[in-house]
Amino acid sequence: MNFDRKALLRAAMEARKFSYAPFSKFHVGAALLCADGKIFSGCNIENSAYSPTLCAERCAVAKAISEGARDFIAIAVVGPEESQTTPCGVCRQVLYEFSDEDLIVLCGGTDEHYMETTLGALLPNGFRL
Ligand code: THU
Repeated sequence: MNFDRKALLRAAMEARKFSYAPFSKFHVGAALLCADGKIFSGCNIENSAYSPTLCAERCAVAKAISEGARDFIAIAVVGPEESQTTPCGVCRQVLYEFSDEDLIVLCGGTDEHYMETTLGALLPNGFRL
């Protein structure tokens, strides 16, 4: 799939600036690319009660779905470390609800290096009703 991977990673890095992570200090940003070129970004939003914490990926998905976007091509996720941050299991399943195995997942960190994979590789045999 042909799209500007660096631009999507940069959008995720921009969103990471807004991360609210006073408890884990693990700041994450995500950027979801739609077929029409539109990008929805998100950051993790933690909570004193811990369990209401929202991951950056699900924040981006919620923004997209709530604005009528459904056709996703790729998502970039960037964590706070050089090593690549991969989506947690819950986010993999949420992404699977709205995309298929072909969704491209770019996993980055604080440097230029990123890993490219697919949702199918991260979540084989995802659950659907
Ligand atoms: N987090 C994300 O935002 N995305 C991931 O894929 C991994 C985890 C957040 C949740 C929590 O705020 C912090 O990172 C530590 O788990």
